[in-house]
Amino acid sequence: MTTGAWNEINILVGGIVMKDLSQDSKKSIDRRSFVKKSLTAAGAVTMGAAVLSHGSAAFAEEHPEEGSGSLDRGDAAILRFLAAAEILETDLWQQYNELGGIQDSEVPGGSGNSIYTAAIAVLDADMAQYIHDNTEDEMSHEVFINAYLASKGADTVNLDQFRTLPSSQATGAQQIGRLTNLMQLSVDTTWWTRYRSFSKNPDFGDTLPQAVPSLAVGQHPAIPRNDDDLTPHKHIQAIANTAGFHFGTIEQGGTSLYPQLAQRVTNAEVLRIVLSIGPTEAMHFQTWADKAGNAPPLTDPKDPSLIFPNLNAPPFGGQLFQTNLIMPEPTIFLSRSLPKCSIVRPTATRGAAMGAVKFLAASGLFIGQSPAFFEMMRDLAEDADSAQRGAH
Ligand SMILES: [Fe+2]
Ligand SMILES: [Fe+2]
Repeated sequence: MTTGAWNEINILVGGIVMKDLSQDSKKSIDRRSFVKKSLTAAGAVTMGAAVLSHGSAAFAEEHPEEGSGSLDRGDAAILRFLAAAEILETDLWQQYNELGGIQDSEVPGGSGNSIYTAAIAVLDADMAQYIHDNTEDEMSHEVFINAYLASKGADTVNLDQFRTLPSSQATGAQQIGRLTNLMQLSVDTTWWTRYRSFSKNPDFGDTLPQAVPSLAVGQHPAIPRNDDDLTPHKHIQAIANTAGFHFGTIEQGGTSLYPQLAQRVTNAEVLRIVLSIGPTEAMHFQTWADKAGNAPPLTDPKDPSLIFPNLNAPPFGGQLFQTNLIMPEPTIFLSRSLPKCSIVRPTATRGAAMGAVKFLAASGLFIGQSPAFFEMMRDLAEDADSAQRGAH
């Protein structure tokens, strides 16, 4: 795995806890005691990256395998990782829906924020509907994968103990504990140029430029943190623009994650699940890739370092930035000696689950989460990345 692919891998995923942990006190204690030891060894407990990067041998010894029921062991691990990713996706999309989507019986919670909703609608008049529908899809992914695992007698994933992060204080948000943080994001927008490039592919170690360079550094809210964020107009528009690009960042991650993990699935029915959910992530991504191009160029008056450039004018513009170039450009795939091909990118499978966790952690999505959360995510990702096709 190249450094480039590692850094560029996308995805969504968050913390996790096996459902049966709450019913299995010995296992739960084992996990907690290990977390303590590993954190001491790591020497730094506040950064997720530190927790994610320490060695794994002792961890494997102290963490007995979760139950797979009648499923192939690797397949169950892949599905559990995907369930975790979907739980995290649901959590973040629900926060968007409460403030900027449509709150109804399909996607309950929150009461909407008219100013934020109007700012998002600048990108497309139907944004509230799209946010609602994306949220509903994630909920269905999460519930289905866990239900399928349970139907095969396998352990499922429940992250409820990590719902500890604060909600937005802005009008319209529910006041409940969250898994994800949408208020301190560093949004990677390299997907914008990655899918427009006709010569580069992160699977070959290539890196690509940001569409919105200032969004990738520092910490930026994608939802109003409180009602002070609703004014002035350009400030809430900057927050809506941030959301508009973050939608694409999240969904391009899912678009890569499913094909990455599918390559190591063993059972045909599990493969069918992965191959049937994955393309819906691509449908989401395609929509958001189109809408992000409608984000109005502006500078955030409350954070002048945050600039949304005109992507159709120099020094932007052209093949890599032009906003109507929303279809994937054919690029190199598998071998430079083969013809260029229009494909999802990246799709290399090695280390894909851990790459997803690292990508999300680096985005700030988990700022404020406990070391135990990162430890659990790391455990799930390691198990998924250990899965091998045809190995039982
Ligand atoms: Fe999903
Ligand atoms: Fe998704």
